[in-house]
Amino acid sequence: MNKILLYPLWLRIWHWLNVTIFLVLIASGISMHYSATNDLFIPFQTAMYIHNIAGILLSINFVFYVIFNIITKNYKHYIPKLKGITDRLFKQGLYYIYGVFKGAKHPYHTSKENKFNPLQQLTYFGIMFFLMPIIIITGWFLMFPELAPENVLGMGGVWPMAVLHIIVGFFLSIFMFGHIYLATHGTTLTANFKSMIDGYHEVHEEHEDKLVVKSTNIDQYTDDTNIVDIHEDYKIYTEGDKSYNPETKSFDNEE
Ligand code: HEM
Repeated sequence: MNKILLYPLWLRIWHWLNVTIFLVLIASGISMHYSATNDLFIPFQTAMYIHNIAGILLSINFVFYVIFNIITKNYKHYIPKLKGITDRLFKQGLYYIYGVFKGAKHPYHTSKENKFNPLQQLTYFGIMFFLMPIIIITGWFLMFPELAPENVLGMGGVWPMAVLHIIVGFFLSIFMFGHIYLATHGTTLTANFKSMIDGYHEVHEEHEDKLVVKSTNIDQYTDDTNIVDIHEDYKIYTEGDKSYNPETKSFDNEE
């Protein structure tokens, strides 16, 4: 069994800080939202203070995330290949709602080159580069209402910011529950959580002997056979291929 480093240290630090801050924001946010009916579990002033501090920390952490994504080019993992995207999304969706209950195999295998399946790519992309910026920007406008635009579509500027903030907050919270549930679909129930802690993903035997190699460059390979649909210059070699040596990951008999 091979191990590949999928989640570098900076990403794991960002992720678990993000999770902690998120939980604080959800608890203080819900508490403020229902404060008109009762002091849910945190007094309003305290909840507001905690929410503001957590929001600032979330923003700083997000800037850190964006900078490191650019430096390490991690953002490329979130961009799906458009060719055949609907079929691939359908395949993954079908696996989650049907295949998984029948013990079907994962339609896409994790590799260093392809960390995510197409559904993860689209979801993470939308969450991190669309919803997160919206919740952060609207949050800052709510913290400094004097900076909010005076008029948005005929309404006072702060009100649309508040509505957008609450709606996006709701969707991000829903995402988190779906995300935790789907993260249990690793090789074992806890495998993905372990990977997000130590950074490593375990590649299991059944995928190891199936290698997709870039025809022109033996060093560029992945265990995701679906990549062949997208890249014409990749080919699949398996254990059965006389020339392919899984030990050395090379073609012994090739000229
Ligand atoms: C208790 C809450 C959470 C848990 C237990 C959790 C768990 C995980 C796990 C196990 C992974 C790695 C496997 C996978 O990719 O599915 C992961 C990746 C990821 N999570 Fe979470 N997560 C949580 C909350 C969040 C939140 C709130 C966000 C963003 C708003 C988030 C964004 C991400 C992203 C973007 C990745 C992929 C990172 C990368 O490799 O580039 N997670 N999470």
